[in-house]
Amino acid sequence: MTAPSSPHLRPQEVQARNGRRYILRTIKASDAPSLIRGYEALSPQDRWFRMLHAMPEMSEASALAFCTPDLESDFCLVLEGQDELTSEILGGARITGDASGKNCEFSVSLRPEVRRLGLAQAALRMALQAAADAGYERVYGAIARDNRAMINLAVLLGFNIRNNPDDPTLVIAERSLSTPVD
Ligand SMILES: CC(C)(COP(=O)(O)OP(=O)(O)OC[C@H]1O[C@@H](n2cnc3c(N)ncnc32)[C@H](O)[C@@H]1OP(=O)(O)O)[C@@H](O)C(=O)NCCC(=O)NCCS
Repeated sequence: MTAPSSPHLRPQEVQARNGRRYILRTIKASDAPSLIRGYEALSPQDRWFRMLHAMPEMSEASALAFCTPDLESDFCLVLEGQDELTSEILGGARITGDASGKNCEFSVSLRPEVRRLGLAQAALRMALQAAADAGYERVYGAIARDNRAMINLAVLLGFNIRNNPDDPTLVIAERSLSTPVD
């Protein structure tokens, strides 16, 4: 995988629906304390939606591991905050490669204060383009069946949604990366 060389992983500005421009960049180790605060800012249901298992808080070790992805196969794009959230990361999108080297899994999360501005969509779109640049052929993710926001976002970005045969509480979103992510 050559994800770190993708132009889609270079720092760039994205425009939110409120007209503001936010920096989107790859995550770094020094983001770990902000990641912990961002996780605390999520509601219990959001935490469940994000992790799909009970995890009431994020430990320092987990946060550091999250902020230092294995760049051979994984990467994570985060948005930088402004105003009262200056020096915080707002959330973003992550790609994790699987052992096949052909498939990868996505995840996405955003702080509640900056939702419905198109920011998750922008971060995930850029992450999918970087995943395609890295040579991944297919991207997938498990989504809680009642997570309407994430299912709508996935459909918007061209994912097909199907039942998870192993767990009726989840659906699987998947799409090929050989067609352009518009
Ligand atoms: C899902 C999540 C990332 C969406 O973030 P967001 O920045 O608010 O999403 P966007 O503003 O980019 O919205 C893009 C599209 O997603 C859908 N969407 C987002 N929030 C929605 C909501 N509350 N209800 C219905 N659809 C919603 C819409 O189709 C929206 O497009 P529109 O605004 O033009 O209608 C955010 O709600 C979140 O972090 N949830 C908790 C964690 C989580 O569920 N992660 C997913 C695990 S894989």
